[in-house]
Formats: sequence, C-alpha cells, structure tokens
Amino acid sequence: MTLRVEKQSDRIVATLDRPEKRNAIDAHTIDALHALCAELEEAPRTLIVTGGGGVFAAGADIAELRDRYAADARRGINATAFIRVRELPMPVIAAIDGYALGGGAELAYAADIRIGSQGLRIGNPEPGLGIMAAAGATWRLPQIVGDARACELLLTGRILDAEEALAWGLVSSLHPADELLAAAHSIADRIAASDPLAVQHTKRALRARPEDHPAIEFELQAELFESPEKLRRMTDFLERRAHR
Ligand code: COA
Repeated sequence: MTLRVEKQSDRIVATLDRPEKRNAIDAHTIDALHALCAELEEAPRTLIVTGGGGVFAAGADIAELRDRYAADARRGINATAFIRVRELPMPVIAAIDGYALGGGAELAYAADIRIGSQGLRIGNPEPGLGIMAAAGATWRLPQIVGDARACELLLTGRILDAEEALAWGLVSSLHPADELLAAAHSIADRIAASDPLAVQHTKRALRARPEDHPAIEFELQAELFESPEKLRRMTDFLERRAHR
C-alpha cells in the first residue's frame, strides 16, 4: 500500500507512504489516488495530502518513467490523477515536509492550500532527466507564483528551500516538521466550521474559467441564498446579537 488513507467524518488524510523510494509516485499510487478521488467525489470532504518519513514525494517513479514511451505520455497518467485531485469538490490541503520534486511538486501544485515545514525542498528537475514537467507545473505554477518565477523554476530546474517557497507564495505558511500535520488539521477545522456547500461553491468559483465570471458566482450564490443552512446560520447570528 503506497497511500495510507485515514478517514474522518469531515476530512480524509492521505499519506504517501513508500519511504524506501522516498514516496516516489508509481502506478499503484496513481490508482490509489483515483480510488480516493472517487470516494471524495461521492462524499465530499476536505483532503489533507502529506508524505511519510520526512518526504512529501521525490517525484514520479523514475524506474517506471524510463520504460514509458510516447503512447504513455499521451495518456497523461499522472496529470489525469492530479487534475482529478484539483477538481475535488472540497478543499485539498498539501502538507509538505522535505522533498516535493517533479511529480511530487505537481501533486502539491494541484492542492488548493499548501503549507510546508522548514525542511521543504520543492521544484521540478525533470529537464535534467530528459523530460518535461507535464502533470500540471507548466499551467499551474504560473498561476501560483506568476509567470516570471514559474519560468525561472521550470526552465532552470532550481529547487526552492522553505523560506524561498514562502516568499514566493508557493506555500502560505511554514511550521516545524512535528507540527505540520496539526497545522493542516487546524486549517481543515476552520473549513469544517463553515457550510460545506458554501465552501464547495466558493471552490467552484475560484476554479472557473475567466469567461465564466461573474455569471457563475451569481448562479452559485442564487443556490446558496435559498439554502436552509444559510437561513439557519444567518438567523443564529442575528438572534445571538439580539440576546446580547
Ligand atoms: N523515482 C524512483 N525512485 C526514487 C525516486 C524517484 N523519483 N527518488 C528516489 N528514489 C529511490 C532511489 O532510487 C533509492 O532507491 P534504492 O535505495 O533502491 O537505490 C531510494 O529512493 C532512496 O533514494 P536516495 O537518493 O538514496 O535518497 P536520498 O535521501 O539520498 O535523496 C533525493 C533524496 C530526493 C534527493 C533523491 O532521491 C533524488 O534526487 N530523487 C530523484 C528526484 C527527481 O529527479 N525527481 C523528479 C522525477 S520526475
């Protein structure tokens, strides 16, 4: 089992767990990610993705990649799984300790929220192996850090340390390694305190195509304006104030 999955009522923690290969993402891991996504599409919950053994993931599995050819590249094996992670209804939090390289970095880029440890090392060394990053880096990294910084990172294969990743906005906060998972849980706690449907709709609006704004917000908000949960939460707020 290369992906350890712990289920709670409002979240799932998925831990990449292949320490002997520095959590390199192989076909089994991709299958497990698809199975996890199927479950989260059916019963939406926040997902925390992390890695065991002081590493997030040292890339796609190079032993598998070496034996893949053009037809495999065209199947977008890793990209398809990471797109599915990206499109999960509820937020995805990547808690990154140690190396997040190549495909590991691309899995992290697919998350909505990224936090790291002081030991974080993130980047895309693919061209050094004679391939390119093709599972999200070239289209997601410019959105996350801006075009100039994405170009520098992807064209040079430079690996960022934790402070640089924070300064670039690639992670939103840094934590001691032994507090990283707790920090991810407290973000999940904040999400869990909100109305799940309102969170899901916010994520859909954030991920919409530019040409869909603002019509998509109006439609999603229209649904929320009629929801029993909105009425309940707003009435609670107003009555609490009235009884002060
Ligand atoms: N794919 C397959 N196997 C990998 C791997 C990967 N991406 N990354 C590490 N491994 C394997 C190593 O081959 C080694 O296996 P072995 O013990 O059977 O020889 C094992 O994991 C431990 O790796 P090692 O290099 O000894 O660990 P380290 O802690 O000294 O170094 C890294 C860690 C991450 C710096 C180093 O493993 C590395 O550079 N990995 C490749 C990074 C990369 O180019 N990723 C992009 C892939 S697209």
